[in-house]
Amino acid sequence: MILDKTKPVYSGTSCYSHRLFINSDYRSHDELTIPTATLSALQKARDNKQQLPANCYIDQDIFSAEMEKFYAASWMSIGFATQYSVNDHAWSLEVLGAPLLLTRDSQGKIQVFHNVCRHRGHIVLDKVKAAGKLLRCPYHSWCYSLDGKFLSAPFWDGTEGSAPDTLQKKSMGLVPVEFTIWYDVIFINLSGNAPPFAEFICPLQSRWSRNRPQKALRFMSNKRFSIEGNWKLAAENFLDNYHLPWIHPEIGNSVEASLGLNVENLRLSENIIGFSHSTAGADKSKTTTPLPQWHEMDPLEAQRQDLFFLFPNTCFVMEGTYLWAMILQPLDVDKCEEQLALYVVGEEALAEKFKASRKQLCDLINNINAQDMKVIESLQKARKSDVASLGIYTPFHDKLGELFHQKILDTLLTE
Ligand code: FES
Ligand SMILES: [Fe+2]
Repeated sequence: MILDKTKPVYSGTSCYSHRLFINSDYRSHDELTIPTATLSALQKARDNKQQLPANCYIDQDIFSAEMEKFYAASWMSIGFATQYSVNDHAWSLEVLGAPLLLTRDSQGKIQVFHNVCRHRGHIVLDKVKAAGKLLRCPYHSWCYSLDGKFLSAPFWDGTEGSAPDTLQKKSMGLVPVEFTIWYDVIFINLSGNAPPFAEFICPLQSRWSRNRPQKALRFMSNKRFSIEGNWKLAAENFLDNYHLPWIHPEIGNSVEASLGLNVENLRLSENIIGFSHSTAGADKSKTTTPLPQWHEMDPLEAQRQDLFFLFPNTCFVMEGTYLWAMILQPLDVDKCEEQLALYVVGEEALAEKFKASRKQLCDLINNINAQDMKVIESLQKARKSDVASLGIYTPFHDKLGELFHQKILDTLLTE
């Protein structure tokens, strides 16, 4: 579905739903203009391969342009399928200001729709969550099934029991939003303008699907982190392995890996960047009892950690015994939220004998992520100074940061 770009589709806020990606001062597309002076600064940074100017992290115009150019136009992630695990339920969400509806039917099938009634455009589900097999618009009681089909409109032609004809009914369903679930992450194409998902994910799919099947994932925990910082700083920090020995000393003696000596920087595509490194040198195991590994994985591969960022907002860390996925949710130019979900591998990993190890792993990863909050907030504070525009890249460690910055600049500067 292609949204009409002349309308302020992503404007407005509400308190009725599970709010994601909200900017309370969101403006219409007509107002999405970056001042010429700002554009010149971006152009200069791109031409000289410099870090992003400090105002990229504090300027509301740039933030609005990013929401349109990166988020609405790409495969953005909005949550984890495991969060919506109850059959015969519907949830209302708000993404970039647009009211959406996520349903799960009796067979467990998830679908995403615009939460807008086809009659006069009232919100169909006006609470966070509802149980039942049908959705009833509160305004004039039009009803829809959980798969979005139109069911009924009372007194359609003024007489009791009347209804539109079968052909008409078919075109009166809720408007779907294109979505895909991949390694439990729900990705949506809100504008309808993103390339096919298979094309977007292909490089990572080919890397992982052979011996790390999605169906083996077992959900372990899901935690939210609120950050007083721009979403890009959270992404950049995720891609930075230089800081590990100083900010996360409990990871153990992984200095070699942290300092890049065995790190392989990877640009899988224009939209997927990250790195891979061996964890074999770490002197501390993450868990006392080793958790079950992916089947058919050779020992060397099982010791590697893959870390990838998928533009605009999805992070994955894959190891031999677990996966963690993180969604960055921009809330405003200087505010975002991270949602981190952790998975182990196979049913066996949920056994009682691994209970302590699962807790150790959860605590370790959530604590490490919590340590990064202070870093991101400090980076944000420093963006009030123009000196933060003068950052200097190291020749090795900041390769991914450089790629990230260039992608942001290229996209912002594209008409
Ligand atoms: S607007 Fe929904 S039934 Fe009228
Ligand atoms: Fe970190």
